[in-house]
Amino acid sequence: MAPIDPHSFTDSSHPLTTHVSLSLYLDFNASTIHASALLTLSSPFSGNLSLDSRSISIKSILDPQTLIPLHFSVSSSPDPIKGSEVVVVLAGQSRLLILYSTSPSASALQWLSPLQTFSKTHPYVYTQCQAIHARSIYPCQDTPAARIRYDVVMNIPSPLSAVMSARHVRRRLPVLEEAKHLDALSSVVWCAEDRVVEEFAMEQPIPPYLFAFAVGELGFREVGPRTRVYAESAAGEVLDAAALEFAGTEEMIKQGEKLFGDYEWERFDLLVLPPSFPYGGMENPRMVFLTPTVIKGDATGAQVVAHELAHSWTGNLITNINNEHFWLNEGFTTYAERRIVEVVQGADIATLNMGIGWRGLNDEMERFKDNLEFTKLKNKQEGVDPDDVYSQVPYEKGFQFVLRIERQVGRTAFDEFLKKYIATFKFKSIDTDTFLDFLKANIPGIEKEINLQLWTEGVGIPEDAYEPVSAIYTKIISLAEVFKQGKMPSEDEVAEWKGQEWELYLENLPKSCEPSQVVALDKRYRLAESKDYEVKVSFLKLAISSKCKGYHGEVEKTLKSVGRMLYLRTLFTALAQTGGTEEKQLAKQIFAEARETYHPIAQGVVESILSKYI
Ligand code: BES
Ligand code: ZN
Repeated sequence: MAPIDPHSFTDSSHPLTTHVSLSLYLDFNASTIHASALLTLSSPFSGNLSLDSRSISIKSILDPQTLIPLHFSVSSSPDPIKGSEVVVVLAGQSRLLILYSTSPSASALQWLSPLQTFSKTHPYVYTQCQAIHARSIYPCQDTPAARIRYDVVMNIPSPLSAVMSARHVRRRLPVLEEAKHLDALSSVVWCAEDRVVEEFAMEQPIPPYLFAFAVGELGFREVGPRTRVYAESAAGEVLDAAALEFAGTEEMIKQGEKLFGDYEWERFDLLVLPPSFPYGGMENPRMVFLTPTVIKGDATGAQVVAHELAHSWTGNLITNINNEHFWLNEGFTTYAERRIVEVVQGADIATLNMGIGWRGLNDEMERFKDNLEFTKLKNKQEGVDPDDVYSQVPYEKGFQFVLRIERQVGRTAFDEFLKKYIATFKFKSIDTDTFLDFLKANIPGIEKEINLQLWTEGVGIPEDAYEPVSAIYTKIISLAEVFKQGKMPSEDEVAEWKGQEWELYLENLPKSCEPSQVVALDKRYRLAESKDYEVKVSFLKLAISSKCKGYHGEVEKTLKSVGRMLYLRTLFTALAQTGGTEEKQLAKQIFAEARETYHPIAQGVVESILSKYI
C-alpha cells in the first residue's frame, strides 16, 4: 500500500485505468448527472481496488460481463481535500461498471440557470477538473499518473448542444437499450421526446484533469483550418469579437509546431464560457476553455490562447506525475507561451509579459514568506489543497529556470533539446528528477554550470534569475518609481500604452499610496472603469489598500460580474487582508450575495481567504 500521489487514493501496486466509457444523463432541473462509468484497467486485478470520488452517490458496481454486483465500500467521512475513497473488491476482473449519480454540489461542475446565461432562456453546465475535481464527475483514479482514453454518450435536452475535449462522433436520438445501466432512470425518461444524445471519443490518452465538457445553447464561428470558436449562440457579438480576437490562432499553432514538434491533437477549438468561468484559460485538449474577459481587442487575448496552446506540448503531451511537480506543466508552458508570443507579437510584448511575471513572482515571495515550502518548484503537498496554494511560483520561477538553461546553452542547442525532450516523454507523466536526469544526459556538465538542486528544491528566487530588460520595460518601472514623489505619467508617456503596459505600471507602484494621488491617477486615466479586467483589478487593488473608500461600489460591481479566480483572489484578499473593519464587512457581504454565481472551486477559494483573514 503506497500512494503515488498526495491528492489521490490510488495505490502504486494497483493497475491504472486505461479506458473509461461514460453514459451521462444530464438532469438540469436537479443539477445532477445520472450515469454509468465502465472502467478498464491495464491488467486484471484481485483484491481491494481504490478509487477517488467526491460527493458521488454510488448505487452499485457490477462485473460488466456477468452483471454480478461487486462488493464495494465508500469511506464514511470524506477527506476534506481528497474526498471519499471507494474500495471495490475485484476477483480477477480488468473491468468494472459503476452506476452512480453526481451531487448538485459536485466541485467540477457549474450549473447555470437560464438567468445566469446570455440568452436567459436555456440552462448551461460546464466542467473544470484541474486540479482534483474529475472525481466529482465519475469515480476514478484521479491522478495525472494515469492516462486514460474515453468515450462518452451524453443525453441532454434537445435545444442544447454539447462540446467536449474529445472528438465529436455524432448527434442522434436516444435508444431504449442505452438506459439499462442507469437504474435510477426509466427508459422513458432517457428516450423522452425533448432529449437528444451526443457522442464523443477521445483516442489520445489523457490525465483525468483534462476531461471536460460544456452543454448549452452553443454556436460557433470558423477561425482557421483546425479552429472554431464556440460560445452561447445568443451571444452573437461575443462570437464575432472572439473570431476577430483569435484570428491569428492558426499562425500560433504553426509556430508552436516549428518550435516544439507536431501538433498531436488534430483540432484546436476554443470555447468562450460565461463570465463565472474560474480561470483565464484551461488547456482542455482539442477544446480550450476561456474566460470572456480575455476578449478585449488587444494582444492579451492571444497571449492567453498562446499559453493554452503551448500546453498542447508541455502539460498535455508531457504531464506532471502529480501536483508536487506542477512547475513542469506551468513553467515550461509559460516559457513556450513567450516563445510563441515573441514570434507572433514581437520581442517587446514578450518582454513586457516577462516583466509582469517577474513582478508577480516577487510578490509571491511576500505572500509565502511564512510558508517557504511554496516558493520551491518541487514542493510537498501532503495535506495541502492545490487550489489553496495556486500561485505564480510554478509559472514564473519555472519559467526562470527554463530560461536559465536556455541562456546557459544558447537558443539553438536549447531548441533542439526541447524538441527531443517532448518527443521522448510525449503521452507520459513525469517528475522533476526524470526531467533533471534527461537534462544532464543530454547537456553533459550542465550541473556544473547551474545549481539544479537550488533551482528545483531551494526556496526563494535564485540569484542567477533574470530580470527582463527592454526600453519600454525600464521606462515603465522608472515611471512607477517616481509616482512616490507625486509624479504621474504624462499623456504623451502613456499614449501608446495598452492593457499590459498599464498592468505593469500599476503592479510596480507601492502597495499602498497617498489616497488623493490614487484618485487623481484614476481621474486622469479612468482606470477603475477600464474594460480590461487586468487593469481594472490592479487599480482597484491599489485603491483598496490605499484606503480609497470611494471605489467600494466599483469593487462590488466587479466581484458580482466576473468569477475568474485571479480577480476574486486579488480583490477579496485586498479587502480582507489590507482593509479595516469596513472593508472586511464589505468582503463578507459581497461574498454572501455573489457566492451562488461563482463556480464551486471559486467558492471554496474565497471561503478560505475570508476565513484566513476575518
Ligand atoms: N492549467 C491552467 C489553469 C489551472 C491551473 C486550472 C491549476 C486549475 C488548476 C491554465 O493553463 C492557466 O495557467 N491559465 C492561466 C492563463 C495564463 C497564465 C495566460 C489563468 O487562468 O490565469
Ligand atoms: Zn497553464
